[in-house]
Amino acid sequence: MVAQLSNAAIRDIETVIHPYTNLAKHREVGPCVLERGEGVYVWDSEGNKLIEGLSGLWCTSLGFNNEELIEAATSQMHKLPYTHIFGGKSHDPAIELAEQLKELAPMEVSKVFFACSGSEANDTQIKLMWYYNNAIGRPERKKIISRIKGYHGVTIASASLTGLPANHADFDLPLPQMLHTDCPHHYRFAEDGESEQEFSTRMAENLEKMILEEGPETVCAFIAEPVMGAGGVIVPPDTYFEKIQAVLKKYDIMFIADEVICGFGRLGEWFGSQAYDIVPDTMSIAKALTSAYMPVSAVMIPEVMYEAMLDESRKIGTFGHGYTYSAHPVGAAVALKTLEIYKRDNIIGHAQNLSETFARRVKALEGHPLVGEGRNIGMLGAVELVADKATKRSFDPKMMVGAKANEFVQKEGLILRNLVDSLGICPPLIISEEELNLLFDKLETALDNTERWVTQEGLRSA
Ligand SMILES: Cc1ncc(COP(=O)(O)O)c(C=O)c1O
Repeated sequence: MVAQLSNAAIRDIETVIHPYTNLAKHREVGPCVLERGEGVYVWDSEGNKLIEGLSGLWCTSLGFNNEELIEAATSQMHKLPYTHIFGGKSHDPAIELAEQLKELAPMEVSKVFFACSGSEANDTQIKLMWYYNNAIGRPERKKIISRIKGYHGVTIASASLTGLPANHADFDLPLPQMLHTDCPHHYRFAEDGESEQEFSTRMAENLEKMILEEGPETVCAFIAEPVMGAGGVIVPPDTYFEKIQAVLKKYDIMFIADEVICGFGRLGEWFGSQAYDIVPDTMSIAKALTSAYMPVSAVMIPEVMYEAMLDESRKIGTFGHGYTYSAHPVGAAVALKTLEIYKRDNIIGHAQNLSETFARRVKALEGHPLVGEGRNIGMLGAVELVADKATKRSFDPKMMVGAKANEFVQKEGLILRNLVDSLGICPPLIISEEELNLLFDKLETALDNTERWVTQEGLRSA
C-alpha cells in the first residue's frame, strides 16, 4: 500500500504527527498535501482545485491570498519582526490592537491579554479565574463548568473543559475541577414533544442542579461557545442562553464566552455573543482575528479581574503568566489589518446577507434521505447524517459514515470536516453567493454518492 504513495507522502508518514488523525490509517492512505490557495479555493499537490468549505479550521475568513494581510506582515517584519512584552516592554501594534478589541467587544473590557492559540487563551482564562478568586478571598471557588461536546482546546486545562471523549481518553483527563453539563442539542437530546423553550428550561434547571450539588461557593465560572463548533456545530435552542445566564447570575458565577470560532462575523454579528444576547464577563478570541494568517489569540479581561490582578502583583511582585509570543508584533499587525478589512469591506454585512442562502440550502438538505438535521446560523452550519430519519437513529460509529461522506465531499472538490456523522460547513466569509451555491451543489452530489454507498453496503440495518 505504502509503495503507491508519492515521495512526499512517504516522507510525511515517516516524520509528521498529524493532529486529529487516525495515525494507523494515515500510514496506509498518506496525507493530502495542499500547495496553494486563492480566494476560497486551495489546490492540492495532484492539481485538484477544492473549495475550502471549512476555512481551514474555521479561521481563514478572508480567504487564501489576501495581499493586504501579506503586506501587513512583511512590512512589520521589516520594521520590527519581534519583541516580547515582558517586563513592561511594548510596541505600537499591540497597543493599537488592544484598543480596538476593547472597543469592539460586546461588554466592558478593561485590559487585553494576548496569546497564540485558542487553547492558550482558555488556559489563561482558567488561571485568571483561579488567580482572581484567590485574590478576592474566595479560594474555594475553583470549579469551572463547561458542556458535553463543547470544544475549548487541548492543553491539559483547556482539554479538561473540552467535552469530547477523544480529548480525555488515556490522557488522564479531565482535571477534577472541570465539570460538564448538558449539551443543548434539541434535535438529539430533546424529549418527545419537548419544545425548544421547554428543552432550554430543562438545560438551565440541570445546570442549577449541578451547581447546587457541587456547592455554589465552589464554582467560579461557566464557559461556552455561542455555537458549539467542533462538537458538531450545535446551534443553541431558543431561550437557552437567556435561561443559562439567569442561573449563573443567581450564583455569582462568571460567564466565559469562547468566541474562538464565533467571533468576527461568523454568526452575522461581530461576536457570537451578540447573536444570542450573551453579556459575558470575559471572552476568548482567536482564529478569524487574523484570518489565521498569523497565530494570535486574546483574553478580554474585565475591570474587577484586573483590579484583583493588580493587588496580586503588588503582593507577589509580578504577574507570573505570559508567553514568548504574547502580542507578537507581526501577529498584531496582521490582526489590525484584518479588522480594518472587516470594517472597510463590510464583511460582517456580507456574511449576514449570505446567511439566508446558507439557511435555505442547508435546510433543503433535510429532504435528502441521509440528512436528519440541517442547521446553521450566519455562515456556520452542519448537516447531520442519520441511519433512520423517522427515529433519528445514528449510524453505528464503527461504520464511519461521516468519514466516508467526507471522502465523497473531497472527491467533489470541496473540503468540509466530519464531526462524527455531522459535516461542518464554515466557508471563508468572502465567499460569493455563486460560490456558496456551488459549495452546496457539491455537497448534495457527495451526499447522493454517500447514500448509494450506504445502500450498497447495507449499513442502515447494521
Ligand atoms: C471554540 C474553540 N475554542 C478553542 C479552540 C482551541 O484553539 P487552538 O486549536 O488554537 O488551540 C478551538 C479550536 O478549534 C475552538 O474551536
